[in-house]
Amino acid sequence: LAEMAAGLEKDGLALKMIPTFVTRLPQGHETVTIYALDIGGSNLRVIRDRLSGNGKIVQEKVVKKTIPDAIQKSDASQLFDFVADAIAEAMIGDDTKDKSLGFTFSFPVSQTALASGTLIKWTKGFTAAGVENNDVVALLDKALKRKGVDVTVAALANDTTGTMMAGAYQSPGSDCCIGLILGTGSNACYVEKIENVKKWKGDPTASGLMAINIEWGNFDSEKRQVLPLTEFDKMLDKQSPNYGSQIYEKLMSGMYLGEIVRLVIKQLQSRNLLLSGTASSQSLDRPYAFDTAFLSQIVADNTPDLQETLSLLRNIGVVNSTLAERQALKEIATAVGVRAAQLAAVGIAAVVTKMGKGATGCSVAVDGSVYEHFPGFRVNMQATMAKILGNDKVKMVLTKDGSGNGAAVIAAVH
Ligand code: GLC
Repeated sequence: LAEMAAGLEKDGLALKMIPTFVTRLPQGHETVTIYALDIGGSNLRVIRDRLSGNGKIVQEKVVKKTIPDAIQKSDASQLFDFVADAIAEAMIGDDTKDKSLGFTFSFPVSQTALASGTLIKWTKGFTAAGVENNDVVALLDKALKRKGVDVTVAALANDTTGTMMAGAYQSPGSDCCIGLILGTGSNACYVEKIENVKKWKGDPTASGLMAINIEWGNFDSEKRQVLPLTEFDKMLDKQSPNYGSQIYEKLMSGMYLGEIVRLVIKQLQSRNLLLSGTASSQSLDRPYAFDTAFLSQIVADNTPDLQETLSLLRNIGVVNSTLAERQALKEIATAVGVRAAQLAAVGIAAVVTKMGKGATGCSVAVDGSVYEHFPGFRVNMQATMAKILGNDKVKMVLTKDGSGNGAAVIAAVH
């Protein structure tokens, strides 16, 4: 709570608390056909969305591309040319004039208007040169011009804001005022009273409200007073592309959970305590090769001899494993998942408390693979929130594709 309040007062602190220029929630009856571009991890999507006015969002066309690692780590023009090509592909056959696009860009962006903002710092493995400290909408516009694609960027959004807006559109009247992402990265946004945003230099908003992108992944990264880190967390941080930052995110998001478990296995293996009867495998030796999706499968394995874990291990080159070893592995994976869910719950309980809704609750729109697919994640989160808040009034609503669709909703509402 103290870090949130400090971040609302001035820039440059651990919690960025970014005003998003989203000042109104949708009613569910807005109608528009618009493109949505979603960049936030290794996949990008361009969707032609139709908001049909009854709380429904129809995806008329979807183009999905994997952004190759080399492009993620290239430079601004290569990255945005790749993006512009995907947009051009999504627009094939659409000869309507005055096309517009909502752009979800899920990185810490200092927003300067509804449709412009500067990348503060890359997260989640992206390092493309010439993007940090630049307006990402201007970079996209330039690439669209180079490629001859005619479309206006109507809104720039973080995935948390997008998810909150998509959730609010789809369930009008549900008091959906928090957006949460538990995917490759983790972050949340919420609706704040403008008078509490002390650093806001603009006019008061008509609604008196402003959605704030917390960028909560960086919580406690400066003071290091709160989060208990294990030796594995410290190792992971040290070897990560963004050493020292996003400490909270590194404990609970999809990019890192598999890696934490890989580091635990490697250490136990080196002490001959786990999987010592097997030659090491590519997936265990290469950083980030132990996918978080594996953890979900291991935790979900309820066969008597953990047969599914056995074949999963074989698939990644670990030929021999005993039942006891597989049970240990399942326990490690479960513990890492439970910790992540509990930490995410602490964050939401704090945001709800900050909003003064601890007693009444509200609804939280959630998107992301960890929340959706990690066994028990939702239940563990819900139980921890109930313990902290003393009630179970916070309602989490899975809002699939919210991060993409939401930018379309934002453009329609503002
Ligand atoms: C990272 C980004 C943040 C995003 C989150 C979830 O934390 O910095 O902007 O919302 O990942 O994708």
